[in-house]
Amino acid sequence: MIAVQGLSKSFGGLRAVSDLDFVACDGGVTSIIGPNGAGKSTVFNLIAGSLRPDAGRVELGGRNVTGLPPHALARLGLARSFQISNLFFGLTALENVRLAAQAQTPRRRFLARLDRETALVEQARAVLGEFGLADLADEPAANLSHGDQRRLEIALCMASQPRVLMLDEPTQGMSPAETRAVDALIRSLAGRVSVVVIEHDIDLVMSISDRVIVLHQGRKLFEGTPAEVRGSDAVRDAYLGAEHGAA
Ligand SMILES: Nc1ncnc2c1ncn2[C@@H]1O[C@H](COP(=O)(O)OP(=O)(O)O)[C@@H](O)[C@H]1O
Ligand SMILES: [Mg+2]
Repeated sequence: MIAVQGLSKSFGGLRAVSDLDFVACDGGVTSIIGPNGAGKSTVFNLIAGSLRPDAGRVELGGRNVTGLPPHALARLGLARSFQISNLFFGLTALENVRLAAQAQTPRRRFLARLDRETALVEQARAVLGEFGLADLADEPAANLSHGDQRRLEIALCMASQPRVLMLDEPTQGMSPAETRAVDALIRSLAGRVSVVVIEHDIDLVMSISDRVIVLHQGRKLFEGTPAEVRGSDAVRDAYLGAEHGAA
């Protein structure tokens, strides 16, 4: 669903991402792991159009989308969450989801403004329900627990019914119980959507991923199944041993 070839990006003299190739499995979960500064968020920015690559190619569903801006990619079915929250804290959970759904819905699908509004609210309620947030629909986002806020962000992404969902550290700052809930949530989404996730919780990565890509200093150090990653000496030396739990 997502394929990158030769992807490279430098900031000044720093090669943040170097000649990266990978394919994210269709309908599966692909995780990107690696120590702090490895280039994970930059890879997301390059794929999702927030940054233009210096070199390389990004394909979405077989189509060359290199250098397209974020809104164009969103229209082609790519949704992403950010490492830093982008919720509207003064709006309710429902209003946040409704806005996200509205931003992505082609206007021509709706005949009348009122029908469109009703449909958007219904769609937003359905999404909240699916994410276990129905009871919090009318709460300002600011009042939600940290775990519920992060869950709401994933709900916002899914409101646009994307083909590809990219999540940057969705469990950052979460309690173990909240992390387990996200684990179950991501598994339940796989199949409906291709998920690419940056994650620092190694146990979660091992449990949810079909494939794992290990980045180190902007390069792909290793790629394989969770079991293969666990068994890799190179990964252990560069990452798992020294920095277990770091992202
Ligand atoms: N906009 C930017 N300008 C300059 N340097 C950046 C920028 N974004 C990231 N970097 C640098 O690129 C490297 C990779 O960063 P990042 O992709 O955020 O890593 P990760 O998400 O794996 O922690 C880091 O050294 C970081 O300081
Ligand atoms: Mg990052």
